[in-house]
This record gives sequence, C-alpha cells and structure tokens, in this order.
Amino acid sequence: MEGHCCAIYLSGTGNTEFCVSKLTKLLDVNAPIVAMEDVGAISAVEASENIIIGYPVQYSDAPKMVRDFILQNAAIWKGKKVFCLATMGAFSGDGAGCAARLLKKFGAFVLGGLHIKMPDSVCDSKLLKKNRAEKMEIIRCAEAKIEHAAMDIMNGKFPHDGLGFFSHFIGLFGQRLWFYGKTRHYSDKLKINKERCVGCGLCARLCPMKNLTVENKIAVPHEKCTMCYRCISRCPQKAITLVGKEIVEQYRLEDFI
Ligand SMILES: Cc1cc2nc3c(=O)[nH]c(=O)nc-3n(C[C@H](O)[C@H](O)[C@H](O)COP(=O)(O)O)c2cc1C
Ligand code: SF4
Ligand code: SF4
Repeated sequence: MEGHCCAIYLSGTGNTEFCVSKLTKLLDVNAPIVAMEDVGAISAVEASENIIIGYPVQYSDAPKMVRDFILQNAAIWKGKKVFCLATMGAFSGDGAGCAARLLKKFGAFVLGGLHIKMPDSVCDSKLLKKNRAEKMEIIRCAEAKIEHAAMDIMNGKFPHDGLGFFSHFIGLFGQRLWFYGKTRHYSDKLKINKERCVGCGLCARLCPMKNLTVENKIAVPHEKCTMCYRCISRCPQKAITLVGKEIVEQYRLEDFI
C-alpha cells in the first residue's frame, strides 16, 4: 500500500485485534493500530490514506457500533482507500462487504476484504464450542491466511473475501435476513446475575460502549450493548450473560497465544 496507513478495529474477546495487528504489522510496521472506541480513532483515519478496518461478524452483519462509527463520521471516508477485515466463528457470507458497502457510500475506495475464521466468542452458548487443540489449530490457520494475504497485498493483489455479489447473496439469505432484528439496534438484553456480581466494576471499565455502571455494588447494564462479549468473557464471577442463561466457557484469545 502506498502512502500512510492506519488500522482501526472493534474487538470484544481479542480475535479481531490480533488479526488486524498481525496484518497491519506485516504491511507497515509504523502504522498506528487503534481501537475504535479510543479517542485517537478518528484522527488516525484523517491522517491516513490507507485504512484497515476490522470487526467481528455478528449474525452475518457488522456490529452496530462499527456501523455507527462509519455513519457518524461520514465525512472522514471521502477519498480514503479502505481494506475490510472481518473475523468470524464459522460463516458470514459477506462479513467484510457489510462495512465495505457503507464506506463506499461515503466516498471511500474499497481495496479488498479478508475473512478470518477464529474461535467463537459467544461464551454463553454451547454452539460451535471446540477443545483447546482445535482452537489452537484454528488460530494457526488464521495466522497462515493473514501471512498469505499480506504477501499478496505487497504484490499488489488484494483479496476480495465477502465483496462480490454471490457473497452478498449468501450473507443476506444465509443468515442476516433471518436475524436482522439482532443487529439493527443496540441490545438491552444484557443480564447480570445479582447473586454472583461483587461490584468490582471491571465490566464497566472495559465496555467500549460505556454501557455498564456500578450502582449499590452491583453492575447495572443499560441499553447500548454492541454485543462484543468483552465484559462477559472477563467477569471474574461469570455473572454476565447475553444470548444464553449461563456461561458455558469464557473465551479470551490471550489464553491461547
Ligand atoms: C453476538 C455474536 C454474533 C456472532 N455471529 C456470528 C456469525 O454470524 N457468524 C460467525 O461465523 N461468527 C459469529 N460470531 C463469532 C465472532 O464473530 C467471532 O468469534 C469473532 O472472531 C470474535 O471477535 P473478537 O474476539 O474480536 O470480538 C458471533 C459472535 C457474537 C458475540
Ligand atoms: S465484572 Fe462481574 S463481578 Fe465485576 S462488577 Fe461486573 S458483573 Fe459484577
Ligand atoms: S455491555 Fe459487555 S457485551 Fe455489551 S458492548 Fe459492553 S462490553 Fe460489550
């Protein structure tokens, strides 16, 4: 990529941060890598010609926070060259395309897209659960795919995962259409087990949406959850759930690398 580069990402349990960081460092060691919730995210985009934008796929869609970040800062994308990286547990169809189409609408030029399969982050569902060795293998394959993509990009060949018409079709009809209501708005469905919560405040400090407060020594969720699963994967008391009723297995990438 010619010109200044930066990377911005949303990552709940570490997968996207890891993949975006790896790709960015291979392409440009000096490029800033900034979390989307950080104050520096907008200025990093403004100062760069090339932007890698990464996020976890949710129900074959980009998280609401990512879509809002793009929409609320519509003016910063004009003339930028963007590369979309979407991580997922199994399938998205057009995960990278979801942000790419929005960015294009605001004047960005889409360089390409990359889909990376990573261990699933949904701590309170039994679906897609894998043992430790299987997770390590998924991460190894992800690293290999990123290294391969970086080589191709350096040779001027950008991958186009999730950007074509067929990907759009299977993303939409394979999943997004049936779960559209899940990602259309922020969620107000976060549940705190009051018997377990000890009011440590870790969840409130970590949430990228500032969606939790601690009141009378108990965490209180509000209605702006972007379903990233960061608080759920971190709570030392396993007191937080969203999709399911009980923690099946907390997932944090750092336990596997
Ligand atoms: C609410 C929610 C919905 C998800 N939906 C999908 C999905 O539709 N397809 C898929 O393959 N993975 C899905 N996943 C899995 C994540 O996309 C995947 O684990 C991702 O790598 C997590 O990235 P992170 O650690 O950066 O948050 C979903 C995860 C969450 C929390
Ligand atoms: S991290 Fe868990 S224990 Fe700590 S305040 Fe939040 S819900 Fe309660
Ligand atoms: S409340 Fe938890 S799951 Fe929801 S956005 Fe905040 S950290 Fe993520």
